[in-house]
Amino acid sequence: MPPDLTVQLAPKNKKGLFLDNPVMTASGTFGYGTEYSQLFDIQRLGAIICKGTTLKPREGNPQPRLVETASGVINSIGLQNIGVKALIKEKAPVWAGWRVPVIVNIAGDTVEEYGKLAQELDGVEGIRGIEVNISCPNVKAGGAAFGADAKSAAAVTKAVRAATSLPVMVKLTPNAGDIVGVARAVVDAGADAVSLINSVKGMAIDIKTRRPTIGNVTGGLSGPAIKPLALALVYEVAGAVKVPVIGCGGIANAQDALEFIMAGASAIQVGSATYSNPRASLDVLEGIERFMEKEGIKKLGEIIGAARK
Ligand SMILES: Cc1cc2nc3c(=O)[nH]c(=O)nc-3n(C[C@H](O)[C@H](O)[C@H](O)COP(=O)(O)O)c2cc1C
Repeated sequence: MPPDLTVQLAPKNKKGLFLDNPVMTASGTFGYGTEYSQLFDIQRLGAIICKGTTLKPREGNPQPRLVETASGVINSIGLQNIGVKALIKEKAPVWAGWRVPVIVNIAGDTVEEYGKLAQELDGVEGIRGIEVNISCPNVKAGGAAFGADAKSAAAVTKAVRAATSLPVMVKLTPNAGDIVGVARAVVDAGADAVSLINSVKGMAIDIKTRRPTIGNVTGGLSGPAIKPLALALVYEVAGAVKVPVIGCGGIANAQDALEFIMAGASAIQVGSATYSNPRASLDVLEGIERFMEKEGIKKLGEIIGAARK
């Protein structure tokens, strides 16, 4: 008998979010999934989280938008995307024919925009859940990220929850003073699950031009550099909330993924690792399977949070 890797990420939601396995792709690093379907069998993944989506199409931030650092990348893409209407018209019908569930990552400038996005996506065939990116600046409140504080994070979650019956996971930012407080607040506001972490604010400077390397001055650091930081935050949040936690940050192989699972994550996301190895997510999945077989672990549940006991 092969090990049972299935996981339910929205146990309290009517529709639920049942995955064949815990390996997802992180938003912004796997396009709309379609781009990778030529490279490997993406239907084997647990879920695909698409690019961050806004109400209107966006061009994104000034170039350069991506810089490599010693152990990670800094990006400032600025949510370049086709907008929710085109996503519903062009992408969702393709996803509707897929076995792998697709979750749409959403981003807004105001609480109302988040609510509108959730409303547009509600009931659309091919869309199985919403991931709410609360790392975006709250335009009406001077530009601090919604996710930096519990009150505004809860307001966004409430608006999304009220607008859709789809499973809702809220993606936490490490650039918050009290991420555990934010996690508790979004769960109280109706989140079915929380995912963490988004990228960490970072910077690089070109000493020849004496200017910031990134067009937008700072960006989000991701990759191996942030893994220990992400792992510690997942451990803390998993100890504080009763909903499923999805771990993300520097996961490049099965060992990394298993650490997050043992810290308390029910599922994980593979992000920047896909850039150096387009099959990284599938390699992670196969590595988890091999580990479970070798260790005689029959169900994933046996090791979720194992390091906490
Ligand atoms: C180029 C790039 C674009 C990203 N775009 C988004 C996005 O649109 N929405 C979002 O919630 N996270 C976005 N992220 C953050 C990732 O989903 C992930 O949380 C972060 O990169 C940490 O994981 P990693 O270290 O495995 O890459 C992006 C990351 C990168 C590198």
